[in-house]
Amino acid sequence: MPDPVAVNSMFGRIARRYDLANHLLSGGMDFFWRRRLVAAVARRQPRDVLDLATGSGDVAFALKRALPAGTPVVGMDFCQPMLDEANAKKAARPARELAGLSFRHGDGLALPLPDASFDAVTLSFGLRNMADRRQSLAEIRRVLRPGGHLFVLEFSQPWRAVRPVYFFYLRHLLPRIAGLVTGDKAAYVYLNDTVEQFPDRAQLTEEIRAAGFSEVHSAALTFGTVALHQAAR
Ligand SMILES: C[S@@+](CC[C@H](N)C(=O)[O-])C[C@H]1O[C@@H](n2cnc3c(N)ncnc32)[C@H](O)[C@@H]1O
Repeated sequence: MPDPVAVNSMFGRIARRYDLANHLLSGGMDFFWRRRLVAAVARRQPRDVLDLATGSGDVAFALKRALPAGTPVVGMDFCQPMLDEANAKKAARPARELAGLSFRHGDGLALPLPDASFDAVTLSFGLRNMADRRQSLAEIRRVLRPGGHLFVLEFSQPWRAVRPVYFFYLRHLLPRIAGLVTGDKAAYVYLNDTVEQFPDRAQLTEEIRAAGFSEVHSAALTFGTVALHQAAR
């Protein structure tokens, strides 16, 4: 499991260039993945949403656009430079569109939130970075109201046919391109390691069930390189 101090400092180093690197390295697919996540959340009509590991806040902003005006959305992260990016983006947008949106510092392994305080929790490319997945899922379950929903968007193990090309890209091309964009090649060697070691859809489904969630189901996106899991508290 990743070392939280190293993860925090790594995201701190790449925060300024994080969005650009995301769009470039995914070939713009990150917009599509986020849209799928947000559409799934909107279908549940939650009264409020916690976007955990919000990073620079793109899921939180997309949620604000998709949900009824004023719906409370809290973006939470343990890396202050990422939250600073999110807040800078918020300050540059019209305030009336963002009523109810806030960004808060908090650790996904010990959420500074009361029990049963949200209808939905989203976790987009965050679970892979948590030092203890079981603890993180337990914390999410604690802060969800009974009947609330968890949405996990995360890398997954791709279809067999695309693996050689995909892993070549991840191991050799992505760190080089990312090194040029962010000046931090090491961060993207880490990305490759965590992606290759992350459970496949069936295993993650089991982990989410074992954490006490029900109605767990998942969808493969982009040849299975990414998966969207949904579950009920
Ligand atoms: C790959 S970024 C994802 C950001 C955003 N959700 C997105 O989809 O672009 C992962 C984020 O997880 C955050 N993170 C990792 N471990 C965390 C923890 N224990 N508590 C809160 N945030 C954490 C990092 O600081 C980073 O901002």
